[in-house]
This record gives sequence, structure tokens and C-alpha cells, in this order.
Amino acid sequence: MHPVVDTIRSRLGDAAILTGEDVKARPVSRIVKSGCEAMAIVRPKTTEEVALVMRLCHEAGVPVVPRAGMTGLVGGSLVGPHEIALSLERMTAIEEIDPIAQTMTVQAGVPLQAIQEAAEAEGLLFPLDLGARGSATIGGNIATNAGGNKVLRYGMTREMVLGLEAVLPNGEIVSSMFKILKNNTGLDIKQLFIGTEGTLGIVTRAILRLQPAPRSRQTVLAACSSFAAVTDMLGYFRAASGGNLSSYEVMWLDYYLLLTAEGRHKPPLPQTFPFYVLVECEGADPETDDAAFEAMLEKAMEHGWIEDAVLARSEAERVQLWRIRDDVHYLLTLSPLFVYDISLPIPEMEGYVNNLRAELEARWPSPKPTVISYGHLGDGNLHIALSCGTAADKPAVNKLVYGPLAAFRGSVSAEHGIGVDKKPYLQITRSETEIAIMRAVKAALDPAGLLNPGKIV
Ligand code: LAC
Ligand code: ZN
Repeated sequence: MHPVVDTIRSRLGDAAILTGEDVKARPVSRIVKSGCEAMAIVRPKTTEEVALVMRLCHEAGVPVVPRAGMTGLVGGSLVGPHEIALSLERMTAIEEIDPIAQTMTVQAGVPLQAIQEAAEAEGLLFPLDLGARGSATIGGNIATNAGGNKVLRYGMTREMVLGLEAVLPNGEIVSSMFKILKNNTGLDIKQLFIGTEGTLGIVTRAILRLQPAPRSRQTVLAACSSFAAVTDMLGYFRAASGGNLSSYEVMWLDYYLLLTAEGRHKPPLPQTFPFYVLVECEGADPETDDAAFEAMLEKAMEHGWIEDAVLARSEAERVQLWRIRDDVHYLLTLSPLFVYDISLPIPEMEGYVNNLRAELEARWPSPKPTVISYGHLGDGNLHIALSCGTAADKPAVNKLVYGPLAAFRGSVSAEHGIGVDKKPYLQITRSETEIAIMRAVKAALDPAGLLNPGKIV
């Protein structure tokens, strides 16, 4: 083991560093259950301790890999035996909620759900929401610019961060901790650390932008018989709700069948329609919003967009409908399993999925490939889970999935990031010049390449 481990132990104390069996006891990620391979897991309690760890590792030439909620899906926190994993799991303070500025100041290790609940307790909303809310931490959400279930209304994490503090690879602290909304004073430094997957600095604290809490909520699961109905209805709900539409999640039949199979969720609608849409509105008038939403549903039925629907009549029913969308772990029953997270123009989606299925079936005729599509359709974001061939076929499958995206000006990663898994495909979405800029910024902030090495570019 590298001597820097003992130096860190002597400076930060025993509780701040895990080695040997204690490291192995931690899984690689929430999905890969084998033991973490890091040389050590370091758990600082303050920004100053993070800075000290970074400086010591920098001086020793030891690479550092950030480790947060481990809910990522692209190998963005992959760590090897010669690297130190840095976890901010002991930095979980919610330092302040400012009701006038409508901000929350937090340390990076706070779980997303704790932030949502703290905002709610003050009559406010932190609108980032995703299935992994219980385990994902805000530091990881910021580093990956997490998206989730309400992007169409509130944007991605990037739109919710007003201020940020980060530690650079050499241990220097960068404070950009502003509460102000308007700050046109040159390069927006905080953006360097948002969505760059911990390759440029370690996010240690943030000032989050909160919103007024919605005062009413309406949720429906609707079945549609055509993709045109799905897209027409999106435009309709957006306009007719006056901007109250906050989620528009779509499941192709295959996804619905998987989640409502025997022994899983009870199907609230028959398993016979090509598309199922989870629509949610958040409004400001509890007296009238429910009736207005039901009127919109009736209109959608009159237009022939909705074939059948189930409206959530209680919070428990709402949660149950969302579980059918969010319980993605049932995908893990497929083997081999290839998962994708892509962006493309909404009108292209149906044809794209059908072409992909045809190409997969031509290439792997037997057994027939499984193609499961679902996702944040309102954001132009599809998730596709595929099972065909063997694990060794992954590069060939990747090509079929990613290849067509360039022509659509789509993205090989909508919200999950690049990590190591999507590195070979970055140039499908980003130009040579863009990638050269990414490399130049990386070289400027981390010339020795010691922070989360080998990720993104
Ligand atoms: C989801 C995750 C996988 O939307 O992004 O289910
Ligand atoms: Zn998603």
C-alpha cells in the first residue's frame, strides 16, 4: 500500500480511512455487487480535509476517484487498486435554507431525498427527482448533471445550482458560493464542475435554487394506441396545463409487460396497448386543479389519444403508479443486458426504435432480441434496455444504437454521462474541436491527470 494512506490516516484520524476488508465490503456500485478495489476509501468531514487529502495525493502522485451514491450506470466512478476512492459520505450537513433567496446550502454528501424533504418541510421544492433519490447524493447529482423525472419543467441539475465550492486536483479550494440569480461576471466557474463527472474537481458544497412547492398534484397513467397520439398529447398537455405539466414519462409495451409481469406490480391497465404514458401536473390551486386536469383527460379521450387511463386518487396510488415507471431493477433479470440513455428528436423516436429492433433481429435472429424502451419522452430522452447475443456482442450492439444518432443531432448520453462505458462513442455527439477543448480544460486544471483518470475523454 502506498505510504500516502498512512499519512492521511495520521492527519485525519482512523475513522476517515477504510482499507483492506472494509473497502472490499463496499460494492463496486449499486448494480455491480463485487467488492470495491480501491487502495483505500477516504472519508473527509470538511472541505479543508478534502483539500488536504487532494494535496497529499497530488504530492504523492496517487490518483483519486470520487465515490458518491454509486447509482451511476456508465462506470464514472470505476476505481482500481492503485487509486484512492474519495467519499463525502460524512459531509451530510444541510447548512441553511434561506426562505427569501429560496436557496439551500448543503454539503455534497447529502442524499437527494433528504434535500427534497428538507425543502418540503419549509413549503419549498427542490425539483430534481429520480428513482435513485434515496441513495444518490447531491454531490454526485451535480458532478453528473443528473436529469430525472421533471426535466421538462425544471431543467437538469445545472439549472438548480446557484453556487458551488469545489476542490481542485492540487488541493486548492475554489469558492463560487453565490446565492444571487444574476451574476454576469465572466466565465461561470461552477459550470466546470457540473456534469464533468468529477474529472476537474471535487464538489464539496453547493447553494441550490429552490422553487415554491406545488399546492396540488395530478397523476394519471394513460394507455395510447399510437405514437402520434403520444406526441400530440404531449403538446396538448403542455399548452392546456399552462405550464403545469411536470412529467411526461413513456413506456413502450415491452417495458410495461416486464414491470407488470406475474409477481411484480399488478397491472393497473390491460397489457395490450403499444404505449403507456405517466402524466403529472403540479399546480397552484388545490380547489380547481383536479377538475381542470380531469377536463384535459376528457379532451384527450375525445381526441382519441387516450384509450384507457387510471387516475391516482391518493398519494399511495400515485406512488404505486410511479413505481411501475421507476422500478428499473427488473431490467436486471435480462441477460446479457445492455442499457442505453440517448437523446433524439421526439418525432424520430418511434422509427428509431422500430429500425433498431429490425436490425437487431436481422443480426441475432434466434433467440429473438428483447428491446425494452421507456424514458423521459417529454425531454427527448429514451432509455433502451436490450438483450441479444452474448456479452461479447456489446460493441456491435452499441454501434447499432449509437450510429444513427449523429444524423439526428442526438446524443449518446442524455443524462447518465460518459464515464468509461461511452468514451468510444463521444465523437458521435461531440465534434473534434469540442473534445479538444475538453482535453485542454482538463490539462489546465489537472495537468498530472490524477483526478478520476480515464473518464469522459
Ligand atoms: C431511469 C434511469 C435509469 O430513468 O435514468 O430509469
Ligand atoms: Zn432516466
